[in-house]
Amino acid sequence: MRVIVTGGAGFIGSAVCRDLIARGGIDVLNIDKLTYAGNLASLRTVDGAPAYRFLRADVADRAAMDEAFEAFRPDCVMHLAAESHVDRSISGSADFIETNIRGTHVLLEAARRYWSGLSDDKAEAFRFLHVSTDEVYGSLCADGAFTETTSYDPNSPYSASKAAADHLASAWARTYGLPVIISNCSNNYGPYQFPEKLIPLIILNALEGRELPVYGQGLNVRDWLYVEDHARALIEIAARGRPGEKYNVGGRNERRNIDVVRWICEILDRLRPDGVPHERLITFVADRPGHDERYAIDAAKLEGEFGWRAEETFETGIEKTVRWYLANEWWWRPLRDKVYGGERLGLVDADAKG
Ligand SMILES: NC(=O)c1ccc[n+]([C@@H]2O[C@H](COP(=O)([O-])OP(=O)(O)OC[C@H]3O[C@@H](n4cnc5c(N)ncnc54)[C@H](O)[C@@H]3O)[C@@H](O)[C@H]2O)c1
Repeated sequence: MRVIVTGGAGFIGSAVCRDLIARGGIDVLNIDKLTYAGNLASLRTVDGAPAYRFLRADVADRAAMDEAFEAFRPDCVMHLAAESHVDRSISGSADFIETNIRGTHVLLEAARRYWSGLSDDKAEAFRFLHVSTDEVYGSLCADGAFTETTSYDPNSPYSASKAAADHLASAWARTYGLPVIISNCSNNYGPYQFPEKLIPLIILNALEGRELPVYGQGLNVRDWLYVEDHARALIEIAARGRPGEKYNVGGRNERRNIDVVRWICEILDRLRPDGVPHERLITFVADRPGHDERYAIDAAKLEGEFGWRAEETFETGIEKTVRWYLANEWWWRPLRDKVYGGERLGLVDADAKG
């Protein structure tokens, strides 16, 4: 089995690479451009493995993608490379259009060219898993959950770019017969997450005694999934999913943002007592423009077809995550010092780039 993972130096892609290599018998080619969010330190446990190799390349570079397909000859592509941070998409959308839409188009075309030249049995077995988000479905009110047939209604430049990519992926399945599968997952958290996202940002700010910024009143609800549960689901979908189908992935772990932040504070009060509760650092700040109120995933299809279940509850997963950040300052310290120090992103202003 030979698998191309795009975006394998990112948060979820690195978890997929680590999981695939740990299974044995799978050769992995990680293709990543190494943007600010890509970090080869997340692959330290696999980068010496004979089955793992890395190619620094842009998925929007057609010649590089054609060459990678011809040289590596994959049985499967797991496409995770993306610009992934909503706040950054508000401050500047161009990279999101370039990578998430044009990059996906280039990769689909490179995959189609390679797949058309395969023998019948190899072509039949080939899979292209396009990894997407529940944010393409828009926002829910207090009730209900997104299913695979929920219509798309994206609100941010990020989710709109992912929605466009999903439409391209499903069109390549319907028009050209490319064996594409799409997955739409809820918010992930866990080890190796870049410290601009809510959970690592709160953990690290709390450790440093800095303000814990909560958007609006913190009442927005997200459905949290531990990253290793997501990686396992993606590998299951790539191996057993039906071409042309979509699969929602989620952990049935809905939490309000303010409750997530308070929970992290309680864990840190226990593991790193500071004399006074960490909750005192909570600061309510201006809300994100167009902030979706609630996301919730109905993962019944994935659970029913493959028996997949999230193994971590939010409580067990968040405890593991906080402990991981406490034990792995070597990983996050250089990012905090040199790449992103925790400043506010994503407010609409005249300086916002196109
Ligand atoms: N993080 C979440 O909660 C979440 C939830 C559901 C779906 N997703 C999707 O999962 C995928 C991975 O998300 P993540 O959180 O790991 O993102 P991330 O930002 O941590 O990692 C993205 C990776 O893609 C690479 N990359 C960016 N542009 C590239 C390009 N043009 N060519 C090659 N590589 C490029 C980056 O260097 C980085 O290593 C994305 O497609 C995202 O939309 C994320």
